[in-house]
Amino acid sequence: MTPDSATGVVDLRSDTLTRPTEGMRAAMARAEVGDDVYGEDPTVLALEERVADLFGHEAALFTPTGSMANVLAVGSLVAPGQEVLCESSAHIARAELGAHGAIGGITMRTWTHPRGHADLVAIRAMFAPDMGPFFVRTTAISVENTHNFAGGAVLPLLELQDLREWATGVAAGVHLDGARIWNAHVATGIPFADYGSVASVLSVCLSKGLGAPVGSLMVGSRDAVAQARVRRKRMGGGMRQAGILAAGGLYALDHHVERLADDHAHAKLLAEACGLDPSTVDTNIVVVERSDAAAFVAAAAEAGVRIATVGPTAVRMVTHLDVSRADAERAAAVLSRL
Ligand SMILES: Cc1ncc(COP(=O)(O)O)c(C=O)c1O
Repeated sequence: MTPDSATGVVDLRSDTLTRPTEGMRAAMARAEVGDDVYGEDPTVLALEERVADLFGHEAALFTPTGSMANVLAVGSLVAPGQEVLCESSAHIARAELGAHGAIGGITMRTWTHPRGHADLVAIRAMFAPDMGPFFVRTTAISVENTHNFAGGAVLPLLELQDLREWATGVAAGVHLDGARIWNAHVATGIPFADYGSVASVLSVCLSKGLGAPVGSLMVGSRDAVAQARVRRKRMGGGMRQAGILAAGGLYALDHHVERLADDHAHAKLLAEACGLDPSTVDTNIVVVERSDAAAFVAAAAEAGVRIATVGPTAVRMVTHLDVSRADAERAAAVLSRL
């Protein structure tokens, strides 16, 4: 029984809501720890090494949040006064509360794609090379896979490979916000290393579909990670016996990746119940356009299904570890009635 089955409420507001399982709590309780600011926490070091290897990069850095991993990752490519290009509904543009400008001193310009894709024609047209004192210089392109506000859409690998090849030719870096790269991998079968190869630097989250309570990683070159380690401390993100948290992440990598396929199947059920073509739902997020979004969310809550608005006319529902098949079926019945 999931925690939500016990209360009778199905909570689909986000995949960040998961609570650690008994197995994960046990792994966290027995974690070997040390002071990670001194580089002496063996569990954090093991997690960093494992995730760096998984994506074929030299190093990784454990951070408290995905937002911090993104600020460090984008900041490793874009200096104050330079710009990053990204899709207009990217998490870094919409939901990090201006951190990249406020903390990193960088600017952003955006292209728009309904499924969050890396539109290379638009990107090439927007790209600004170094023009001395006349224009802001583009030094990085950021993509998000899967794309949260585009309904968990998977970005095609070929498109990302083309982007990386072109970006390398113009000396721009590619940042991949891979908060849900695990879902992309499970949906497509594409190896993590292939996703790693299209990015100069990436961020990945353990606290979304993977079900860990805390933690993300920035992944990149040894130099970029060494610099990010300093900036992480400056931002107040130097944690001490963080191995307790890292152990939750290691457990999640062992036990919670392949099961994401269940979340994807549950999301298709919800999509169908909302009148969408389930084949348009790639992973664990369903976004539905409703002119009465707020009223729809309130009616669903009344019937024991918690969903969220992500815009005046957009409603989002997210499946996760704490939503069983029975929960998803119950939610689907409520949503189709509404
Ligand atoms: C695509 C994406 N990137 C980054 C983040 C940031 O993660 P955090 O909430 O840990 O800061 C999120 C959070 O939902 C996200 O959806």
